[in-house]
Amino acid sequence: MDTNVVQFFKLVFLLFFPCMWTPHDAQWVHVSSTGISSAGDSINPGDTLNSSTYIVSEKGTFALGFFHRIDSTTTTTETYLAISEMAEADQILPFNLFVWFGSRDRPIVNNSVMLTLDNNGTLKIVQKGGDPIVLYSPPQPTKNTVATLLDSGNFILKEVQSNGSIKRVLWQSFDYPADTLLPGMKLGVRHKTGQTWSLTSWLTDEIPVPGPLALEWDPKGYQLIIKQYGVIYWTSGVLRGKTFKNISPEVTSMYDFIIVSNEDEDSFTYVNSNQSQRSEWLLTTMGQLKDLKGQDIARADYCYGYNTNGGCQRLKQPVCRHHGDIFDLRTGFLVAGDFSANYDSSLGISDCRAICWNNCGCVAFTSWFPNDTGCRFWTDGPQALGVATSSSRPS
Ligand SMILES: *[C@@H]1O[C@H](CO)[C@@H](O)[C@H](O)[C@H]1NC(C)=O
Ligand SMILES: *[C@@H]1O[C@H](CO)[C@@H](O)[C@H](O)[C@H]1NC(C)=O
Ligand SMILES: *[C@@H]1O[C@H](CO)[C@@H](O)[C@H](O)[C@H]1NC(C)=O
Ligand SMILES: *[C@@H]1O[C@H](CO)[C@@H](O)[C@H](O)[C@H]1NC(C)=O
Ligand SMILES: *[C@@H]1O[C@H](CO)[C@@H](O)[C@H](O)[C@H]1NC(C)=O
Ligand SMILES: *[C@@H]1O[C@H](CO)[C@@H](O)[C@H](O)[C@H]1NC(C)=O
Repeated sequence: MDTNVVQFFKLVFLLFFPCMWTPHDAQWVHVSSTGISSAGDSINPGDTLNSSTYIVSEKGTFALGFFHRIDSTTTTTETYLAISEMAEADQILPFNLFVWFGSRDRPIVNNSVMLTLDNNGTLKIVQKGGDPIVLYSPPQPTKNTVATLLDSGNFILKEVQSNGSIKRVLWQSFDYPADTLLPGMKLGVRHKTGQTWSLTSWLTDEIPVPGPLALEWDPKGYQLIIKQYGVIYWTSGVLRGKTFKNISPEVTSMYDFIIVSNEDEDSFTYVNSNQSQRSEWLLTTMGQLKDLKGQDIARADYCYGYNTNGGCQRLKQPVCRHHGDIFDLRTGFLVAGDFSANYDSSLGISDCRAICWNNCGCVAFTSWFPNDTGCRFWTDGPQALGVATSSSRPS
């Protein structure tokens, strides 16, 4: 086949920032990296956790504290209460695996901030010059509470008896997942309250505010699904015994699945077959679901266009796109060509791809802003595309 014709149908996804596929990294700081030590694994009534302290779970697996994200391109700092997996016991850095955020959709701009548990059992983030962010407030004042970070990565607020034993769990961070599923966390729905448990991707690899992609448990279909803005892009296929049709058995053999289906809830949980190993499932900004070893669980990042492999769903296609059309990831600069910009900084890269795919005039896209938000679309003919310097698949 004539290569020019192939070029014509190939759409080029230009990537100016090769670092985009690396894990969340060093722009994150916690003041304690300058030497302040941890304050146990719990917060008691009257205690506060300020921006220079943190708590660490008993065996040193997870830390909870305030983390500052410094955006070098806009020089803004945002502060988040977060739980980070710790690299090794006794070593607080690097804090690069954030598994939970206390106020993910409401970053704190003022870094004069504290987490408090008061004598009535209210757990909240208090910030200077802003409203408090209440994580939990009991219906009636509740004495004898304690908030503890567990080695599972769950931060629980419990009511205790006077002898110290647990009376009940009032609130837990596992009920509010971010982009990471840890062993013991649920996906699904609690019928009584209508509360759903699902993962939501970050907006970009550096910005943890909720992005467009979600991982859910579909109790009717008895399967896992990945959605973008409510549209199903990928399904695992029905869970039969220990396997899902569209997940490699090599991956599923490492886990045991617990399905609960009763009047209280419908939920999916995984645990490690080997209990002494750590694991987590991470939903990336492009829709890849991968485990801690980097193994693929799902590739919803390939689910666009006519691809129906590996669990990708058939989506309605614009008439101008054809079988075999795919985006080809390129690194480099496009020197020529007409482009348009979308300055909406709530758009992430998977939004740009969806917009470009559905706009018949679009031949290539990348982010607009240096922080990987917004979109740039090329509307030029294929002759302009030859200048990209190298080509590779997203990892
Ligand atoms: C944070 O709390 C610790 C321990 O209570 C205290 O030593 C430190 O001065 C506090 N830092 C700030 C900035 O308030
Ligand atoms: C605790 O609850 C009591 C009774 O509702 C109220 O008077 C008091 O102000 C509350 N304390 C705090 C710290 O909110
Ligand atoms: C942070 O808090 C201080 C003290 O209340 C206030 O003067 C300042 O305006 C706040 N900054 C922002 C960005 O809200
Ligand atoms: C603690 O007290 C509760 C109720 O008073 C009792 O049921 C429980 O057995 C006690 N636990 C221990 C470890 O003593
Ligand atoms: C479980 O994992 C631990 C830690 O990686 C390893 O030492 C052990 O051999 C594993 N056990 C089995 C039965 O695979
Ligand atoms: C990303 O950059 C744009 C443009 O500078 C800015 O408006 C936006 O607030 C930034 N987003 C975040 C979350 O920092």
